Amino acid sequence: MTDKKTKPIGFFDSGVGGLSVLARFKNVLPNEKTIYFGDTLHLPYGNKSKKELIGYAKNILNFMEQKEVKAVVIACNTSSAQAYDSIKNEFEFPIYPIIQSCASGVSKLGIQRVGIFATEATVNSHKYADELIKQNPNIKVKEIPSKNWVGIVENNIPNIDEAKANIKYEIEEMMKFNPDKIILGCTHYPYLMNEFVKYAPKEIFIDPAEIFVEYIKNNLEKKGLLNNEPSNSQTQEEFYVTSSPDAFLKNAKIFYEIKNAPALVSN
Ligand code: DGL
Repeated sequence: MTDKKTKPIGFFDSGVGGLSVLARFKNVLPNEKTIYFGDTLHLPYGNKSKKELIGYAKNILNFMEQKEVKAVVIACNTSSAQAYDSIKNEFEFPIYPIIQSCASGVSKLGIQRVGIFATEATVNSHKYADELIKQNPNIKVKEIPSKNWVGIVENNIPNIDEAKANIKYEIEEMMKFNPDKIILGCTHYPYLMNEFVKYAPKEIFIDPAEIFVEYIKNNLEKKGLLNNEPSNSQTQEEFYVTSSPDAFLKNAKIFYEIKNAPALVSN
């Protein structure tokens, strides 16, 4: 019987955004085998209904179950906000949702005014605000849905005038709230950092991936699931998408270098 510790860990997102989490994870835990699933057929998740998002998450988790993963990382804020609560008890393996896993780490930063940029579906759920207020009832939160940003990242067009103007407008709106920190509440957004820093200081932005990966590492360790056998993780990774493998391969580079085109699966 294969040791559970050496089984892969699943990651999923609507597209390349979750690779910002995977990249950090690989740096911290290079021994782990990984399976990344980009649900590109249903991208963007940000304008989908709760029912649709629960359906996508279930299908992906069933796929991961067949792959015999030891855990799944929801490297997508939208799915964490809208689907996690409905599916969390349906699977035997641990499931790590980005928002809920990061809230206590963020609140430990001792900040009082928090801005959150996220997709429409994440903002509508108010999951981030709820989780932060649970940790610190005095915290003041402002959530702004940045509807165009996932498209800007997936099409790799941060330099066109329309994209620049939109980013400028949204950041300036957020700065009126006078936040101590601004959470990038969508795993696609760290790619836009070069634009963000034109309108706000770099230190104000939080990419929750760092806190998230630390949380996953500690939790896997507690559960005795960390893989201690040294291995070359680059040769131990698989990628799957639900449409356009070539576009994914090309665009993935913004976060993580993938060697081979991902496999196309119907899900
Ligand atoms: N990257 C995802 C998130 O963190 C989803 C973005 C989308 O597809 O709208 O929310």
